[in-house]
Amino acid sequence: MIEAHIHILPGIDDGSDSVETSQKMMEILRQQGVDRIIATPHFYAHREKDVETFLAKRDAAFDALGRPDNMRLGAEVRIEQGVSLLPGIEKLAFEGSDLILMEFPYAKFAPWMIEEVYNLADNHGLTPILAHVHRYFDFFTDDQINRVLAMSGVIFQANNEYLETRIEKKMIKGLLKDGYPLIFGSDAHNLDSRRPNWDRLVKKTKSVYIEEAMELLRKHLD
Ligand SMILES: [Fe+2]
Repeated sequence: MIEAHIHILPGIDDGSDSVETSQKMMEILRQQGVDRIIATPHFYAHREKDVETFLAKRDAAFDALGRPDNMRLGAEVRIEQGVSLLPGIEKLAFEGSDLILMEFPYAKFAPWMIEEVYNLADNHGLTPILAHVHRYFDFFTDDQINRVLAMSGVIFQANNEYLETRIEKKMIKGLLKDGYPLIFGSDAHNLDSRRPNWDRLVKKTKSVYIEEAMELLRKHLD
């Protein structure tokens, strides 16, 4: 399997706090059947000086981890106003692919959020992956969630623990049944409260859905 949403680089965001933690996360992933990893540290435009500075930090963290052969670099880009126009933003796409992981803010929905995603995709020929689309029920109305789900040219991502609440499970199961382009990810940050959890996904999700998700990722990554 391929992990495409994980905070596994040491010391760069609120994910792994050390090389040792990162190595243990890699070992857990391996035991759970994950053989390729895209590292996706948070990118918050308002907190970073610029994209280049972020890339240098990301590279240093990757160096510290010994640049594992089965790991490629990406980011989880927070959708903020103007983010699509940030110089170099396209460099946050997954290395060697057209995929870029973007997350909606945990805030009231506004139409500019969707515009930012489309602008970024159009300006740079990228395919956005919308992170954990099941986690916005506290912030978006049903109608607003449906507007997100109606977006075209994007891939939706579910966290492996989507089955834990009834409403999130219902949503993701619906998307799977209806054949939406959907991938999974652990969004793991550490070794305890948010540890790699592919074991849970494999136990509770039909293998055909997982295979389709991996196939979709492979199409973009290879
Ligand atoms: Fe994340």
